[in-house]
Amino acid sequence: MSSSAAISKILVLNGPNLSRLDLRDQNYYGDLKYPQLVSYIEKCAIELKLNVDVRQSDDEAQLITWLHEAADQNLPIIFNPAAFTHYSYAIRDAVAMLKAPCIEVHLSNPLSREEFRHTSVISGVSTGTIAGFKEQSYKLALIAMKELI
Ligand code: DQA
Repeated sequence: MSSSAAISKILVLNGPNLSRLDLRDQNYYGDLKYPQLVSYIEKCAIELKLNVDVRQSDDEAQLITWLHEAADQNLPIIFNPAAFTHYSYAIRDAVAMLKAPCIEVHLSNPLSREEFRHTSVISGVSTGTIAGFKEQSYKLALIAMKELI
């Protein structure tokens, strides 16, 4: 593949309530509304010559269906599971089935917040975690993913 060609598709999955960023605490999540966050991720991907497909769902089953699709198609994942991070063993089991890298991302730094956010059931089955850089967490994950794939 030539260096100018976009390389294989990366699924960027976002979990519950991330579509409502405009109503959430900007001190944690930054000041981008969800559509602006999607545009930011797409712009970063273009700059890095990566191909992204950015999706959001509030529904655990939908996220699991997308993870199964990624496992079947060997797609790399950048994943913000949002609150599911802290308790969804079903999502953890789906991430564990992935063959390509999965980078867990968070806009905020959950370790500096309430105690229930200190547990991630996803981290142990992810390639790595990037948290606390607001929208730039996704850019850093794309840079890391480019090295991995
Ligand atoms: C989050 C952190 C989670 O604790 C929280 O439930 C979210 C967003 C983040 O991006 O910082 O919804 O994943």
